[in-house]
Amino acid sequence: MSIPRHVAIIMDGNGRWAAQRGWPRIKGHKAGVKAVEDILEAAVAEGIGHLSLFAFSTENWKRPGPEVASLMALLRMYLRMFRRRFIEKGIRFHHLGAIEGMPQGIQQDLRELEAATAAHPGLVFHLALNYGSRLELVQAARRCIEDGLKAETITEKSLQARLWTGDAPDVDLLIRTSGELRLSNFLLWQSAYAEFYVTETLWPDFGAQQLRDALDAYQQRERRFGGLAITET
Ligand code: IPE
Ligand code: IPE
Ligand code: MG
Repeated sequence: MSIPRHVAIIMDGNGRWAAQRGWPRIKGHKAGVKAVEDILEAAVAEGIGHLSLFAFSTENWKRPGPEVASLMALLRMYLRMFRRRFIEKGIRFHHLGAIEGMPQGIQQDLRELEAATAAHPGLVFHLALNYGSRLELVQAARRCIEDGLKAETITEKSLQARLWTGDAPDVDLLIRTSGELRLSNFLLWQSAYAEFYVTETLWPDFGAQQLRDALDAYQQRERRFGGLAITET
């Protein structure tokens, strides 16, 4: 099978990675950002078209205030640092999620990054922040109404076009690190026929080799999309 057009990753296990070392959770998040840098580079090298990374969910606001605050501060710092990398590598940045729920400064950074990289021809990097798939579906339904669509003209295509992922292709490969076997409200619609790959590796330890292992596993899969295997036709 070919290279997946869209790879989505639920980056999980930062807290456990830090706890294993007797460190505060935020150190795990810092190490997690380093892993993002490496994976971006690896995704470009592998020729992946779209990479979606789940960084902060609509449910993650339930975490203790100091952890959320440190995460936001870290994010702000790294969004600025990543800017140069996006320009060097021709990466197009795109935010997934309810931007109005993010702190003001970060909203500005996200909008600015999207605008500055909009014409880039390379990898499209979707960063999910304040993202929840159910909220995404609700806002898509609202947008259908705002756009004046009549009930009978709402189709899978018209609803899909109003998701935050817009015209990005469906997820081909969905990776979750740290061994958890759940979606946690990530790209429910877009992953309808995604191949799942779960690894025990904690996110800060996930690098280019681990991405290659996931891509190798994907190559072995037989996707049928509800039809029959090629040998049975
Ligand atoms: C993933 O790591 C990053 C975020 C959700 C922000 P976690 O912080 O969930 O790490 P664990 O699951 O507690 O180990
Ligand atoms: C999913 O991880 C969200 C992100 C990776 C941003 P969580 O750690 O929040 O998921 P649960 O709570 O274990 O399902
Ligand atoms: Mg977690």
